[in-house]
Parts: sequence; structure tokens; C-alpha cells
Amino acid sequence: MSTMKPGTWAYAEEFPLEPEVIETARRRGGELGCTPVSPGTGAALSMLAAAVAARAVVEIGTGAGTSGLWLLRGMPADGVLTTIDIEPEHQRAAKQAYAEAGIASQRTRTISGSALEVLPRLADGAYDLVLVDGDKPEYPQYVEQAVRLLRRGGVLAIDNMLWHDRVADPAVRDQTTVVLRDLGKQLRDDERLVVSLLPVGDGLLTAVKR
Ligand SMILES: C[S@@+](CC[C@H](N)C(=O)[O-])C[C@H]1O[C@@H](n2cnc3c(N)ncnc32)[C@H](O)[C@@H]1O
Repeated sequence: MSTMKPGTWAYAEEFPLEPEVIETARRRGGELGCTPVSPGTGAALSMLAAAVAARAVVEIGTGAGTSGLWLLRGMPADGVLTTIDIEPEHQRAAKQAYAEAGIASQRTRTISGSALEVLPRLADGAYDLVLVDGDKPEYPQYVEQAVRLLRRGGVLAIDNMLWHDRVADPAVRDQTTVVLRDLGKQLRDDERLVVSLLPVGDGLLTAVKR
């Protein structure tokens, strides 16, 4: 059992220095109702993108651009973020955030549409990192696509895998919680992946494709 105290969790979550431009994007995301990644999660995403020198990244769930900005910070200067969202209003906010952060336009490819329609059009093994942060019930299908898209050694990152403390409580059996709990266990046992569930933010499941 963990002996970590709430103060320790809060300290770790507030530890990253969140740039003002990302804080602004995070606030806008909250206002638009597309819950942004937390600073702790964002810092982990930057680190993962830097660790694999991610030049080609796919993001499922653009939101107002918070996670995209953290990813771009960790990617090499010529890295391209391909980001998918079904809500044009969210992508407009994200484009504004990228512009405010001084991101060159050729470094982001925003695709408007349903992730399950867009993902099959992307090439096998062509991506260094995939972030899953779209519609929760569709996560299992996103993940199958993500594993196909990743090169060997590429990183899969999935947000909300602890789902508001619900996944850890076996008594909670609503549909979204069960989908995410089962998916986590399925990925843990997947021979194609090396997995770690990081308790940052709302839970970031990370995996490297063998
Ligand atoms: C949690 S928010 C993403 C937050 C974003 N990653 C960030 O940190 O700012 C989820 C996003 O997924 C989008 N979304 C929901 N269903 C989708 C679908 N079927 N296909 C693509 N995007 C979807 C929503 O419009 C929303 O912007």
C-alpha cells in the first residue's frame, strides 16, 4: 500500500513550471469543456517526446491545445504534431494557442473529424509517439490503431487511465470506468508493449512498443 500523502501528490503535480501560454490554453480548454491535461501530465508528455526524439506525433483529442503544446516542447524543432478532434471550435482554440506559443504552422497538422475515421488513414509504423485523449469509450479502438501507427521503440501515452479515482475502486462498475480498467489490464498483459501506469494527473498509462 502506498504511504504517499495528498500533500506529496499535490507537490509533484505542481512541481513542473507551466509556461504562461500553456496555462492560458489550459484555462480556455476548461472554459470550452474539453478537460486539458494537468501540468504534471504535460511535463511527463514533454519528457517522453524528448526521450524518443519524437519527430512524428499523433494526438487523439486536440482540445484547446494544452497537451499539444507540452508535446511540442519536448519534440525536436522539426517535429510535426498531427492532432485529431471532432469539434472545430476546440481546434480553433488550439490553433490560437499554437500561434501564441510561436509554433511554426508547418509543425502542426490539425485534422477535423472522428478519430475512428481518421486513424485508419494514417501510415503503419510511421510515428514515434501517440497520445490518446479523446472519447473514453472509444479508447480500446484508438489503442489498437495507435499500436499499428507506432514504430518499434515508439511511445504510447493514454490519459485518464485512473479516471477520477474510479478505476482503483473495484466497487465502481459504470461503463467508462470498466472500459478503462479492463483496457489497462489488457495492455499490461500485452506482449507487444512494455507498460507503466504513472499516477500523474488523472493517470497516464505509458508504454513502449517492442
Ligand atoms: C479531454 S479533451 C482533450 C484535451 C487535450 N488533449 C488537452 O490537453 O487540451 C477530449 C477531446 O476529444 C474530442 N473528441 C471527443 N470525441 C471524439 C472523437 N470521436 N473523435 C475525435 N475527437 C473526439 C473532444 O472534442 C475533446 O476536444
